[in-house]
Amino acid sequence: MSNVLFSTRDARESTEKLSAALAVVRKFWKGTAEVGLILGTGCGDVADAIDAEAVIPYDRVPQMPRSTALAHKGQFVCGTLQGTSVIAMQGRCHLYEGYGFDDVTLGVRIMHAVGARRLVLSNAAGGMNPAHATGDIVLVTGHVNLMWQTRTGVLRGTPAGPGRSGESVYDPELIDLAASVARRENFTAHRGVYVAVSGPNYETRAEYRFFRRLGDVVGMSTVPEALVAAECGLRVIALSLVTNVARPDAPERVDAEDVVVAARRAEPNLRKIVLSVVSSE
Ligand code: HPA
Repeated sequence: MSNVLFSTRDARESTEKLSAALAVVRKFWKGTAEVGLILGTGCGDVADAIDAEAVIPYDRVPQMPRSTALAHKGQFVCGTLQGTSVIAMQGRCHLYEGYGFDDVTLGVRIMHAVGARRLVLSNAAGGMNPAHATGDIVLVTGHVNLMWQTRTGVLRGTPAGPGRSGESVYDPELIDLAASVARRENFTAHRGVYVAVSGPNYETRAEYRFFRRLGDVVGMSTVPEALVAAECGLRVIALSLVTNVARPDAPERVDAEDVVVAARRAEPNLRKIVLSVVSSE
Protein backbone atom coordinates (compact mmCIF):
# COMPACT_ATOMS: atom_id res chain seq x y z
CA MET A 1 0.00 0.00 0.00
CA SER A 2 1.43 3.33 -0.95
CA ASN A 3 -0.57 5.68 1.26
CA VAL A 4 0.59 4.57 4.66
CA LEU A 5 3.72 5.00 6.71
CA PHE A 6 6.06 2.07 7.08
CA SER A 7 8.02 3.49 9.98
CA THR A 8 6.94 1.36 12.94
CA ARG A 9 8.01 -2.15 13.84
CA ASP A 10 4.35 -3.12 13.64
CA ALA A 11 4.21 -1.88 10.10
CA ARG A 12 7.30 -3.81 9.08
CA GLU A 13 5.96 -6.97 10.65
CA SER A 14 2.63 -6.73 8.92
CA THR A 15 4.29 -6.06 5.56
CA GLU A 16 6.46 -9.14 6.07
CA LYS A 17 3.44 -11.22 7.04
CA LEU A 18 1.70 -10.24 3.83
CA SER A 19 4.75 -11.06 1.67
CA ALA A 20 5.14 -14.50 3.26
CA ALA A 21 1.45 -15.32 2.84
CA LEU A 22 1.26 -13.97 -0.69
CA ALA A 23 4.30 -15.95 -1.86
CA VAL A 24 2.50 -19.18 -0.97
CA VAL A 25 -0.88 -18.13 -2.39
CA ARG A 26 0.94 -17.35 -5.64
CA LYS A 27 2.34 -20.90 -5.76
CA PHE A 28 -1.21 -22.21 -5.86
CA TRP A 29 -2.84 -19.54 -8.04
CA LYS A 30 -1.32 -17.12 -10.52
CA GLY A 31 -4.56 -15.48 -11.62
CA THR A 32 -5.74 -11.91 -11.13
CA ALA A 33 -8.95 -11.42 -9.18
CA GLU A 34 -11.50 -8.72 -9.86
CA VAL A 35 -13.66 -9.41 -6.84
CA GLY A 36 -12.98 -10.73 -3.35
CA LEU A 37 -15.66 -12.56 -1.37
CA ILE A 38 -15.62 -13.25 2.35
CA LEU A 39 -18.25 -15.84 3.13
CA GLY A 40 -19.27 -15.88 6.78
CA THR A 41 -21.44 -18.13 8.92
CA GLY A 42 -23.79 -20.20 6.78
CA CYS A 43 -22.79 -18.34 3.60
CA GLY A 44 -19.91 -20.60 2.58
CA ASP A 45 -21.90 -22.56 0.01
CA VAL A 46 -21.76 -19.60 -2.37
CA ALA A 47 -18.21 -20.79 -3.06
CA ASP A 48 -19.62 -23.98 -4.60
CA ALA A 49 -20.75 -21.88 -7.57
CA ILE A 50 -17.14 -20.89 -8.32
CA ASP A 51 -15.42 -22.63 -11.17
CA ALA A 52 -12.38 -23.29 -9.01
CA GLU A 53 -8.83 -23.08 -10.34
CA ALA A 54 -7.26 -23.41 -6.88
CA VAL A 55 -8.42 -24.24 -3.38
CA ILE A 56 -5.96 -23.18 -0.69
CA PRO A 57 -6.57 -24.24 2.93
CA TYR A 58 -5.63 -21.47 5.35
CA ASP A 59 -3.26 -23.81 7.15
CA ARG A 60 -1.07 -23.97 4.04
CA VAL A 61 -0.64 -20.18 4.07
CA PRO A 62 1.95 -18.88 6.55
CA GLN A 63 0.61 -16.23 8.95
CA MET A 64 -2.97 -16.89 7.91
CA PRO A 65 -5.08 -17.55 11.01
CA ARG A 66 -6.99 -20.83 11.15
CA SER A 67 -10.75 -20.60 11.18
CA THR A 68 -12.13 -22.38 14.25
CA ALA A 69 -15.71 -21.08 14.15
CA LEU A 70 -18.64 -23.38 13.55
CA ALA A 71 -19.42 -23.94 9.83
CA HIS A 72 -16.39 -22.00 8.60
CA LYS A 73 -14.40 -24.18 6.21
CA GLY A 74 -11.20 -22.20 6.24
CA GLN A 75 -9.97 -22.05 2.66
CA PHE A 76 -9.43 -19.69 -0.25
CA VAL A 77 -11.29 -20.64 -3.41
CA CYS A 78 -9.87 -18.95 -6.51
CA GLY A 79 -11.40 -19.12 -9.98
CA THR A 80 -14.27 -17.68 -11.96
CA LEU A 81 -17.84 -16.97 -10.94
CA GLN A 82 -20.11 -16.36 -13.93
CA GLY A 83 -17.07 -15.43 -15.97
CA THR A 84 -15.60 -12.98 -13.41
CA SER A 85 -12.32 -13.78 -11.74
CA VAL A 86 -12.77 -14.05 -7.97
CA ILE A 87 -10.93 -15.01 -4.82
CA ALA A 88 -13.21 -16.18 -2.03
CA MET A 89 -12.57 -16.86 1.61
CA GLN A 90 -14.82 -19.73 2.57
CA GLY A 91 -14.95 -19.00 6.28
CA ARG A 92 -13.32 -16.15 8.16
CA CYS A 93 -11.43 -15.63 11.39
CA HIS A 94 -12.73 -13.54 14.27
CA LEU A 95 -11.28 -11.49 17.09
CA TYR A 96 -13.08 -13.79 19.55
CA GLU A 97 -10.95 -16.71 18.35
CA GLY A 98 -8.02 -14.88 19.92
CA TYR A 99 -6.64 -13.29 16.75
CA GLY A 100 -5.59 -9.67 16.39
CA PHE A 101 -6.97 -7.11 13.99
CA ASP A 102 -3.99 -7.59 11.71
CA ASP A 103 -4.56 -11.37 11.57
CA VAL A 104 -8.26 -11.24 10.77
CA THR A 105 -7.65 -8.80 7.92
CA LEU A 106 -4.69 -10.55 6.30
CA GLY A 107 -7.06 -12.24 3.84
CA VAL A 108 -8.30 -8.85 2.61
CA ARG A 109 -4.76 -7.70 1.98
CA ILE A 110 -4.06 -10.91 0.07
CA MET A 111 -7.18 -10.30 -2.05
CA HIS A 112 -6.09 -6.74 -2.75
CA ALA A 113 -2.60 -7.92 -3.65
CA VAL A 114 -3.94 -10.40 -6.23
CA GLY A 115 -5.95 -7.65 -7.88
CA ALA A 116 -9.37 -7.48 -6.22
CA ARG A 117 -11.01 -4.06 -6.52
CA ARG A 118 -14.42 -4.97 -5.15
CA LEU A 119 -15.11 -6.87 -1.93
CA VAL A 120 -18.31 -8.60 -0.89
CA LEU A 121 -18.54 -9.34 2.83
CA SER A 122 -21.23 -11.55 4.30
CA ASN A 123 -22.08 -12.38 7.87
CA ALA A 124 -24.71 -13.74 10.21
CA ALA A 125 -26.10 -11.07 12.51
CA GLY A 126 -28.70 -10.46 15.14
CA GLY A 127 -31.53 -8.22 13.95
CA MET A 128 -32.40 -5.43 16.39
CA ASN A 129 -34.69 -3.32 14.25
CA PRO A 130 -38.30 -4.33 15.01
CA ALA A 131 -38.97 -4.49 11.26
CA HIS A 132 -36.53 -7.38 10.86
CA ALA A 133 -37.46 -11.04 10.54
CA THR A 134 -35.22 -14.09 10.57
CA GLY A 135 -33.94 -14.72 7.06
CA ASP A 136 -33.98 -11.05 5.98
CA ILE A 137 -30.89 -9.51 4.48
CA VAL A 138 -29.51 -6.19 5.64
CA LEU A 139 -27.40 -4.08 3.29
CA VAL A 140 -24.91 -2.38 5.56
CA THR A 141 -24.79 1.38 5.04
CA GLY A 142 -22.55 2.22 7.99
CA HIS A 143 -21.18 0.74 11.18
CA VAL A 144 -20.50 1.41 14.83
CA ASN A 145 -17.24 -0.21 15.83
CA LEU A 146 -17.53 -1.44 19.44
CA MET A 147 -14.70 -3.92 19.02
CA TRP A 148 -12.32 -1.47 20.71
CA GLN A 149 -9.76 -2.25 18.06
CA THR A 150 -8.98 -0.74 14.75
CA ARG A 151 -6.28 -0.69 12.10
CA THR A 152 -2.82 -1.39 13.47
CA GLY A 153 0.68 -1.52 12.08
CA VAL A 154 0.93 -0.97 8.37
CA LEU A 155 -2.81 -0.55 8.30
CA ARG A 156 -2.97 2.33 10.72
CA GLY A 157 -2.32 5.09 8.22
CA THR A 158 -3.36 8.56 9.32
CA PRO A 159 -6.65 9.64 10.85
CA ALA A 160 -8.11 11.44 7.87
CA GLY A 161 -8.95 10.95 4.24
CA PRO A 162 -11.37 8.93 2.15
CA GLY A 163 -12.46 5.51 3.27
CA ARG A 164 -11.54 6.08 6.89
CA SER A 165 -14.84 7.10 8.34
CA GLY A 166 -17.49 4.42 8.85
CA GLU A 167 -20.00 5.98 6.48
CA SER A 168 -17.75 6.12 3.46
CA VAL A 169 -16.65 2.51 3.73
CA TYR A 170 -19.72 0.97 2.06
CA ASP A 171 -20.28 1.68 -1.62
CA PRO A 172 -23.68 3.34 -2.27
CA GLU A 173 -23.90 2.08 -5.86
CA LEU A 174 -23.32 -1.52 -4.85
CA ILE A 175 -25.96 -1.10 -2.13
CA ASP A 176 -28.46 0.22 -4.71
CA LEU A 177 -27.63 -2.67 -7.01
CA ALA A 178 -28.25 -5.18 -4.20
CA ALA A 179 -31.53 -3.48 -3.28
CA SER A 180 -32.69 -3.72 -6.90
CA VAL A 181 -31.90 -7.45 -6.97
CA ALA A 182 -34.02 -7.97 -3.83
CA ARG A 183 -36.93 -6.02 -5.38
CA ARG A 184 -36.70 -7.97 -8.63
CA GLU A 185 -36.44 -11.33 -6.90
CA ASN A 186 -39.08 -10.45 -4.33
CA PHE A 187 -37.23 -10.86 -1.07
CA THR A 188 -36.62 -8.43 1.78
CA ALA A 189 -33.38 -6.47 1.97
CA HIS A 190 -33.30 -3.63 4.48
CA ARG A 191 -30.61 -0.99 4.70
CA GLY A 192 -29.06 -0.63 8.12
CA VAL A 193 -26.22 0.07 10.46
CA TYR A 194 -24.06 -2.82 11.71
CA VAL A 195 -22.92 -2.71 15.32
CA ALA A 196 -19.68 -4.68 15.65
CA VAL A 197 -18.75 -6.38 18.91
CA SER A 198 -15.83 -8.67 19.66
CA GLY A 199 -17.92 -11.53 21.10
CA PRO A 200 -17.85 -14.44 21.62
CA ASN A 201 -20.87 -13.99 23.85
CA TYR A 202 -24.18 -13.04 22.35
CA GLU A 203 -25.75 -9.99 23.92
CA THR A 204 -27.50 -9.57 27.23
CA ARG A 205 -30.96 -8.01 27.17
CA ALA A 206 -29.46 -4.79 28.47
CA GLU A 207 -26.91 -4.79 25.67
CA TYR A 208 -29.55 -5.40 22.99
CA ARG A 209 -31.53 -2.46 24.40
CA PHE A 210 -28.45 -0.28 24.25
CA PHE A 211 -27.27 -1.46 20.83
CA ARG A 212 -30.61 -1.02 19.16
CA ARG A 213 -30.26 2.69 19.79
CA LEU A 214 -27.02 2.54 17.83
CA GLY A 215 -27.85 0.38 14.86
CA ASP A 216 -30.01 -2.22 13.16
CA VAL A 217 -27.97 -5.43 13.36
CA VAL A 218 -25.24 -6.70 15.66
CA GLY A 219 -22.46 -9.11 14.81
CA MET A 220 -18.89 -10.14 15.55
CA SER A 221 -17.09 -9.64 12.27
CA THR A 222 -16.96 -7.64 9.04
CA VAL A 223 -15.87 -4.23 10.35
CA PRO A 224 -12.12 -5.04 10.49
CA GLU A 225 -12.21 -6.37 6.93
CA ALA A 226 -14.31 -3.47 5.67
CA LEU A 227 -11.97 -0.88 7.21
CA VAL A 228 -8.88 -2.46 5.72
CA ALA A 229 -10.53 -2.93 2.33
CA ALA A 230 -11.57 0.72 2.24
CA GLU A 231 -8.07 1.72 3.24
CA CYS A 232 -6.79 -0.30 0.27
CA GLY A 233 -9.25 1.50 -2.02
CA LEU A 234 -11.64 -1.40 -2.61
CA ARG A 235 -15.33 -0.85 -3.23
CA VAL A 236 -17.03 -2.70 -0.37
CA ILE A 237 -20.48 -4.14 0.15
CA ALA A 238 -21.44 -5.91 3.37
CA LEU A 239 -24.48 -8.16 3.63
CA SER A 240 -25.88 -9.33 6.95
CA LEU A 241 -28.16 -12.33 7.17
CA VAL A 242 -30.54 -11.86 10.07
CA THR A 243 -30.33 -15.19 11.88
CA ASN A 244 -32.15 -14.19 15.07
CA VAL A 245 -34.20 -11.21 16.07
CA ALA A 246 -33.33 -9.64 19.37
CA ARG A 247 -36.42 -8.92 21.48
CA PRO A 248 -35.08 -7.73 24.81
CA ASP A 249 -38.53 -7.93 26.40
CA ALA A 250 -39.32 -11.42 25.15
CA PRO A 251 -35.84 -12.87 24.92
CA GLU A 252 -35.00 -16.16 23.27
CA ARG A 253 -31.78 -18.00 23.81
CA VAL A 254 -29.43 -17.57 20.84
CA ASP A 255 -27.23 -20.49 20.06
CA ALA A 256 -24.49 -20.82 17.47
CA GLU A 257 -26.03 -23.87 15.80
CA ASP A 258 -29.41 -22.15 15.30
CA VAL A 259 -27.55 -19.20 13.79
CA VAL A 260 -25.87 -21.48 11.25
CA VAL A 261 -29.18 -23.16 10.31
CA ALA A 262 -30.96 -19.81 9.87
CA ALA A 263 -28.09 -18.40 7.79
CA ARG A 264 -28.11 -21.44 5.51
CA ARG A 265 -31.82 -20.96 4.86
CA ALA A 266 -31.24 -17.37 3.77
CA GLU A 267 -28.22 -18.24 1.64
CA PRO A 268 -30.08 -18.55 -1.75
CA ASN A 269 -31.10 -14.87 -1.56
CA LEU A 270 -27.64 -13.83 -0.51
CA ARG A 271 -26.27 -15.74 -3.48
CA LYS A 272 -28.45 -13.74 -5.90
CA ILE A 273 -27.00 -10.49 -4.59
CA VAL A 274 -23.45 -11.82 -4.64
CA LEU A 275 -23.79 -12.95 -8.25
CA SER A 276 -25.07 -9.59 -9.39
CA VAL A 277 -22.33 -7.64 -7.56
CA VAL A 278 -19.70 -9.97 -9.02
CA SER A 279 -21.07 -9.48 -12.55
CA SER A 280 -21.48 -5.69 -12.25
CA GLU A 281 -19.15 -3.44 -14.35
N1 HPA B 1 -25.30 -11.06 18.27
C1 HPA B 1 -24.03 -11.06 17.83
N2 HPA B 1 -23.63 -11.78 16.78
C2 HPA B 1 -24.55 -12.52 16.14
C3 HPA B 1 -25.89 -12.56 16.55
C4 HPA B 1 -26.28 -11.79 17.69
O1 HPA B 1 -27.46 -11.78 18.12
N3 HPA B 1 -26.54 -13.40 15.70
C5 HPA B 1 -25.62 -13.82 14.79
N4 HPA B 1 -24.41 -13.30 15.05
